[in-house]
Amino acid sequence: MKIACIGAGYVGGPTMAMIAKMCPDITVVVVDINAARIKAWNSDTLPIYEPGLDEVVQSCRGKNLFFSTEVHKHVGEADVIFVSVNTPTKTRGVGAGKAADLTYWEGAARMIAAVSKTSKIVVEKSTVPVKTAEAIEKVLRRNCADPDVQFEILSNPEFLAEGTAMEDLKNPDRVLIGGKETPAGQRAIGVLKSVYQHWIPEERILTANLWSAELSKLTANAMLAQRISSINSISALCEATGADVQQVAHSIGTDSRIGGKFLNASVGFGGSCFQKDILNLVYICETQGLKQVAEYWHSVVTINDYQKQRFVERIIEAMFNTISGKKIAVLGFAFKKDTGDTRETPAIDVCKGLMADGAKLCIYDPKVTEAQINQDLVTPKFEWDHPTRKEAGKNEAITCAADAYDACDGAHALTVLTEWDEFKTLDFQRIYEKMMKPAFVFDGRNILDHEALREMGFIVFALGKPLDPFMQKQYS
Ligand code: NAD
Ligand code: UDX
Repeated sequence: MKIACIGAGYVGGPTMAMIAKMCPDITVVVVDINAARIKAWNSDTLPIYEPGLDEVVQSCRGKNLFFSTEVHKHVGEADVIFVSVNTPTKTRGVGAGKAADLTYWEGAARMIAAVSKTSKIVVEKSTVPVKTAEAIEKVLRRNCADPDVQFEILSNPEFLAEGTAMEDLKNPDRVLIGGKETPAGQRAIGVLKSVYQHWIPEERILTANLWSAELSKLTANAMLAQRISSINSISALCEATGADVQQVAHSIGTDSRIGGKFLNASVGFGGSCFQKDILNLVYICETQGLKQVAEYWHSVVTINDYQKQRFVERIIEAMFNTISGKKIAVLGFAFKKDTGDTRETPAIDVCKGLMADGAKLCIYDPKVTEAQINQDLVTPKFEWDHPTRKEAGKNEAITCAADAYDACDGAHALTVLTEWDEFKTLDFQRIYEKMMKPAFVFDGRNILDHEALREMGFIVFALGKPLDPFMQKQYS
């Protein structure tokens, strides 16, 4: 069997690497129109950082795993084609700011139709609106010159999370395959199932109809993000009342119906998926006339924006209502630890908010480059995944530091925006001595030892925790 995957991104690359590793009898080729990305996949420095990915790629690349820009050749030769292209939020036209932009998906489908001389199973790996398979099937059928070529479409959404992608792929909670309830549809499901059965127990491979599989992916992300917005909304109430959000999360999480995972209050959720997929869900509900349902899910994004804004306002208020000209160290820029990905990271909105009030930012992240940070801070909302975005110049309000100590040197405040493990073990006494006084800490991830920091002399704000006595006095 030959598999081709269109799209060598955060999903296509790791997913295909895992299939190649677990299925030595299958040839897997990942293709992309982005030549620089393919070049990086074929080099020693892979285009994305993901723990465990290097080892898997190195063990299969050149044997049964290939990365190529020869899109037409490999798609034409493949029996099974995964489509893992980006499906960003539309930035203009009908549905702008909410609906999924399916330009890349439809482009891929037209290309598959044009180069196919044999029948294919086409697998939706990208996250798409419910009923996309119906549209794609029409595009495939109407654009293929050979009437004997058959296309069977499957939905096989990906549930991996960045930073743990390789572990998630190796040992997933479930794999979901949606297909038509026709004999040909069921045969295609069987073929894809046989790939996953190389390493995943049968009971964890779920099958469903096409629309249920497509909608399950949007719903899973909406429910996960909703948990974060729920606990983040409670973090605001904790600060107002003196309760401690970590104690609340622990208490409720021990109820097995609620469960303890995904209840970490934070400065806000980020990443390329949650906001995009919820907005997409909201748009679908609106187009179906389900106004109340749309409003319900939209509130998850509203609370997330509120949380980021609240964090910025807390910093400004605590620092005597002026941060103009003050140096603020930003520790962490990626949207979560163990990734260099900055797509929709809460750090973008927090940094923009601080810069709007005149702060001078000094940013350190172990995996994010200065060029990326500068780019992110000038790219308008939703534009990051579109080729129209403008190139960034140097932003005078930002410098980047080689480590956390440099970032904090001479700063009035330090903020933790990503929960990198290395921040927990910093020498805060050394940091305190080099900071302006009073020295403020704003922990947007609740990973530091707040009591120890207070004993050193820091004034500490932690999300959802009782306010520092210094701040209590200020507000009373
Ligand atoms: P990405 O932007 O990292 O990768 C997409 C790639 O597709 C890009 O390299 C782009 O050049 C390529 N591409 C676009 N059009 C193409 C075409 N016509 N031919 C060949 N290549 C083309 O995106 P990603 O993060 O890998 O996400 C891909 C999809 O998977 C999205 O729908 C996303 O919602 C979904 N998803 C992402 C994650 C995640 O954690 N990133 C998790 C689950 C699902
Ligand atoms: C998410 C889904 O988890 C995954 O199943 C889907 O396939 C893609 O989208 P990802 O965005 O990579 O994965 O990471 P995730 O671990 O879900 O974190 C998303 C954001 O939520 C991060 O900014 C993270 O810091 C934040 N988060 C997560 C919290 O703020 N609190 C939590 O308790 C958990």
